[in-house]
Amino acid sequence: MAKYPPLARRIPQPSDITPFLRLKSRSGLSRAERRVADAHTIEDLRRLAKRRTPAGPFHYVDGGAESEISMRRAREAFDDLEFNPEILRDVHEVDTTTTVLGKQSALPFGFGPTGGTRMMHAAGESAVARAAERAGIPYGLSTVGTTSIADFAAAAPGARHWFQMYLLSDRERSLRMLAEAQANGFDTLVVTVDSAVVGNRLRDARYGMSYPPQLTVKTFLDASYRVEWWTNLLTTEPYRFTYEEPGVPRSQLTAVKGFTDSSVTFDDLAWMREAWSGPIVLKGIQTLDDAVRAADSGVDGIVLSNHGGRQLDRAIPPLHLLPSVAARVGASTEVMLDTGVRTGADVVAAIALGAKFVLLGRAYLYALMAGGEAGVDRAVQILRAEIRTTMALLGVTSIDELRPEHVTLVSRYTRLASTASESASTPAPLAEPSATSTTSTITTSARPRARKAGTR
Ligand SMILES: Cc1cc2nc3c(=O)[nH]c(=O)nc-3n(C[C@H](O)[C@H](O)[C@H](O)COP(=O)(O)O)c2cc1C
Repeated sequence: MAKYPPLARRIPQPSDITPFLRLKSRSGLSRAERRVADAHTIEDLRRLAKRRTPAGPFHYVDGGAESEISMRRAREAFDDLEFNPEILRDVHEVDTTTTVLGKQSALPFGFGPTGGTRMMHAAGESAVARAAERAGIPYGLSTVGTTSIADFAAAAPGARHWFQMYLLSDRERSLRMLAEAQANGFDTLVVTVDSAVVGNRLRDARYGMSYPPQLTVKTFLDASYRVEWWTNLLTTEPYRFTYEEPGVPRSQLTAVKGFTDSSVTFDDLAWMREAWSGPIVLKGIQTLDDAVRAADSGVDGIVLSNHGGRQLDRAIPPLHLLPSVAARVGASTEVMLDTGVRTGADVVAAIALGAKFVLLGRAYLYALMAGGEAGVDRAVQILRAEIRTTMALLGVTSIDELRPEHVTLVSRYTRLASTASESASTPAPLAEPSATSTTSTITTSARPRARKAGTR
């Protein structure tokens, strides 16, 4: 006698089998949409991007400065945090809208400025701008973008455009760009302040990132199975950097005194304020002292950012700086954050810890490389769904309800007591690690959450 009874079996009917044979419906999807439909995370889009893009531009996006420690730790900061969900809340409707710098955004994130976007995919900034318009979120054009100010504005006339400025050695050209951006309806000026010189990005040298792309044996082999990227490159208008002026040779603009101005200081904010009538944001703040100084100088917003780990290596993860900065200056200045954001849960965590808004860099660039404009739409779909799910599981139904108490920041690195600064710059107190603990907790719940009244 068998110990266990056998399965009660029967002959399968055709109707039992057909549900398993039903093909996934992809009708009505374009080729590019089909390609990205199976990507379910930004990391999936990154893998697809790597297959489809030559090594030079892919690694230009994917890499960081020096040993890429800043880049890795910014990601770890998000990976390590813990959520504290509230239960039994009615979350059948979740609203992801928020306001940033006086206007509504359908999602609590926007697309940050990135240079050279047409090198990643020939559709470039115009495609990203249209996707941002469809998503109802802002997007910033970089000074070293590959689309002119007028073309960018024309690509998505209904969208909100920000203009990112690297101050050029040629001050007159900077002023002409600001005037042109305002004339084309850009409403916010983002001044990047972490790039007095360019970080040492070793992958650019290793993977032969150059403009125009150089065909060596290595890049030729690499190109041979990325035919679409090359076809797109060769059959569309050549790149034109945003800072270029018709009739002025590129070399003339870049040769004089170095391209960007390394002598810019807080004093320069005065003439920028005169030249720009809308909100001004400083992007690349990395200490509490500088955040306070920026707020005192009257700027409308700051972005805690280490440029995606592409500038100073070992710079502090912006997420670790966020709670103290939000508590100190969040009432007078809108505090935003970028670097390392790859999931909707990351966005939610940053907002809970006091960010008014989050900017993305690589997340949308991977998507663009993976599937052009359809890829960027897919990235928005993925992130929107992740944000909604995370909010619902946390027990909140609106961006306003997110609080520091929803997140515990955990650091796998403890700051040594003997070297910890006692100054105001110390971003957050790290608890003493217990004898068995390999991580330490950054206390956030004690911090008051300060916000501009009514700006959310
Ligand atoms: C390929 C690439 C180009 C970038 N170019 C610019 C730029 O021209 N101006 C700027 O202010 N920031 C630039 N950034 C930085 C982004 O605006 C943003 O700070 C950073 O990408 C955020 O990190 P994340 O990529 O991890 O999201 C660039 C980033 C990347 C990846």
